[in-house]
Amino acid sequence: MFASRTGWNLSVNRFTVALENHRKSGKPLLDLTASNPTECGFEYPAEEILAALARPPAMEYHPIAQGLMSARRAVEKYYREKSIAVSEDNIFLTTSTSEAYSYIFRLLCDPGDEILAPRPSYPLFEFLADIQDVKLAPYSLVYDHGWQMDMSSVRAAVTPRTRAIIVVNPNNPTGSYVQPCELDELNGLCADHDLALISDEVFHDFPLREVEHADFAANQAALTFTLSGLSKIAGLPQMKVAWAVVGGPDKLRQTAVERLDVIADTYLSMNTPMQHAMPALMESRHGFQKQLKERLVGNLAALDGLLAAQRACQRLEVEAGWYAVLRVPVTRTDEEMAVALLKELDVLVHPGHFFDFEQDGYLVLSLMTPEPAFVEGAKRVVGFFG
Ligand SMILES: Cc1ncc(COP(=O)(O)O)c(C=O)c1O
Repeated sequence: MFASRTGWNLSVNRFTVALENHRKSGKPLLDLTASNPTECGFEYPAEEILAALARPPAMEYHPIAQGLMSARRAVEKYYREKSIAVSEDNIFLTTSTSEAYSYIFRLLCDPGDEILAPRPSYPLFEFLADIQDVKLAPYSLVYDHGWQMDMSSVRAAVTPRTRAIIVVNPNNPTGSYVQPCELDELNGLCADHDLALISDEVFHDFPLREVEHADFAANQAALTFTLSGLSKIAGLPQMKVAWAVVGGPDKLRQTAVERLDVIADTYLSMNTPMQHAMPALMESRHGFQKQLKERLVGNLAALDGLLAAQRACQRLEVEAGWYAVLRVPVTRTDEEMAVALLKELDVLVHPGHFFDFEQDGYLVLSLMTPEPAFVEGAKRVVGFFG
């Protein structure tokens, strides 16, 4: 009856069972996996946001596949403020980065074609690829006083069926940007093997320290799709607006835009009130980012304070993003450790394998967690190993 692409193993793992049981028990929970900004105590200009959604032009329908020009202009302005010139003509609005990925996968891949993706990284890639009949081929990020792309593993993963390389810039959860020299190497690979680049930059606006990094929206050397959206940059995941910027050599870019236009026109998934609200919602990001950055920096400093007093756990270098990765003693699997932390200490953290870390011994903590819960939770985690 069902397509084989949907034959996923949907049985729940021990971690999920333990979490469900914990929730049912009504016991308190220190949730250090928080990633929904609308539930983390930030102040939003609610009146302005709601007023922007009720603008009279929202009563008219203009089906424009790439998205209304006024909304695309708000995205163009976002890049201009980062000193990156992009044209509205090369911007596609989508309801999520997931939708943008699926459009791009459909644009580039025949069934069975391959796309390279980093490991460890965002767990949704596997599903996005499956649904589009694309094969995901992992390449490694390696840690040596900081995260780097293992370029030999990128090269080794390229086959005649490879169509594109995904980078997450900065990566979730390692918090590492792509370095300019890595972008140079990627451009060389793309030229040699006729590949495109897809850069997921949803965490780009959250540096935790000054660091040189690549800006893919400005990349001209290879066909490049740069993805971002309101869900992370403005802390508004419920608004469902994201985008893809198409860049690169003129002819390739133009063909990509023409074909993406047909894909987007087939769905016309953007709703009108949201598009009219885009300029106001994009502006609202400044207030959100200021609050969140204070929290990220504060929680990171608190974590470092706790770690300084012991030797069992280490925090890995982080350049940006919402997460900290802890290296902990490998006394059992990550999943067993996360379950033990939940059962014994009422603390929820993500086991590294959730992000496909190649080895055990990693736990991921969300720095977005409200401060008192973060500090208490981190204290318990560090104490558990100390
Ligand atoms: C790397 C990365 N890309 C994209 C997303 C989701 O973005 P959107 O809500 O626009 O689909 C996430 C969410 O956690 C993410 O970690």
